[in-house]
Amino acid sequence: MPITEQQVMEALSRVNEPELGRNIVSLGMVENLKIAGGQVDFTIVLTTPACPLTDVIDRDAKSELSKLPGVTDVNIQWDSRVPADMRLSGQGVQFKNTIAVSSGKGGVGKTTVSVNLAVALAQTGATVGLLDADIYGPNVPIMLGIDSIPKPRDNKIIPGYAYGLRVMSIGFLVPPDQPIIWRGPMIHSAIRQFLTDVDWGNPDYLIIDLPPGTGDAQLTLAQSVPLTGAVIVTTPQEVALADAVKGFAMFEKLEVDVLGIVENMGPYTDPKTGQTISFFGEGGGRRMADRLGVPFLGTVPLDPNVRVGGDEGTPITARHPDAPAAQIFMKIARDVAARISVLNLSE
Ligand SMILES: Nc1ncnc2c1ncn2[C@@H]1O[C@H](COP(=O)(O)OP(=O)(O)OP(=O)(O)O)[C@@H](O)[C@H]1O
Ligand SMILES: [Mg+2]
Repeated sequence: MPITEQQVMEALSRVNEPELGRNIVSLGMVENLKIAGGQVDFTIVLTTPACPLTDVIDRDAKSELSKLPGVTDVNIQWDSRVPADMRLSGQGVQFKNTIAVSSGKGGVGKTTVSVNLAVALAQTGATVGLLDADIYGPNVPIMLGIDSIPKPRDNKIIPGYAYGLRVMSIGFLVPPDQPIIWRGPMIHSAIRQFLTDVDWGNPDYLIIDLPPGTGDAQLTLAQSVPLTGAVIVTTPQEVALADAVKGFAMFEKLEVDVLGIVENMGPYTDPKTGQTISFFGEGGGRRMADRLGVPFLGTVPLDPNVRVGGDEGTPITARHPDAPAAQIFMKIARDVAARISVLNLSE
């Protein structure tokens, strides 16, 4: 008896996408099914190339198909199509999802997290843009080592480019030693222009690095474009956490989903001595995430290599992808991407 398509699809409909909690057939993830004798070939189209649980899907699919009599060989190809935030379509913007990186307090590592999250997502194969929305203190150009001046083409601004990312920052347009003394309305129009007039090329994710606090830039941004979600960065100690809670409350008011909390500058283990130093304490980020009922995304250690990477314009995720800090950024990237798929597909 030849194996039928229906049998295969039925078997695969018992395989769940673990994050979404729905079966891969009903999610339309199975494509290009071919059956030749005992050999079954098909493609699984993931909702993000950064899918953290591909192994689980692979194992479950093979296990279900092995129960079908006559199946001798299963060959799965992998592909991905990131679902777009439906609220963004029809807005005349060129990106599928927006992720704001924010904190209540300054200097906790928003820009470091934005840059490394963006590079990590790009490393998974996703297309990624990075918008520096810190008009008064644009640090993204330094952290990515870009000093180009974006040029206009066909009424669009061509963004900077580094590590696979399209990047826009006011820092490209203003000399680094010159302060920007703009009032609210000018910030508003600059951010709007960056969102609509830059040739973003429709990336899967646009990461937005925010200035600290709960001020003009945040409000402008939330009013200018729907935010798919926000990542809140905090350091582990209580004083930073109090500010992070304020940041959370702001997103709640703005009705923006908080994708999770990143604890930055956490305990660092010296690879030479094995000694662990908790400069800013530890565990606060997780406690806060639990208290607020949002996902805890992970702790990035206070690692001299992270700082050097920032100063030299070579993010640790690109320079030392195997370093513990880079691995954490990769995990955060995968979790954030998965969370966005859940948000987009459950609406
Ligand atoms: N995990 C880390 N380990 C070591 N240094 C770090 C780490 N995270 C950030 N830094 C360093 O701390 C400094 C501040 O980080 P960053 O600029 O990312 O913070 P920020 O929250 O964006 O600041 P601002 O509020 O001014 O925008 C930078 O010099 C950066 O390289
Ligand atoms: Mg910053």
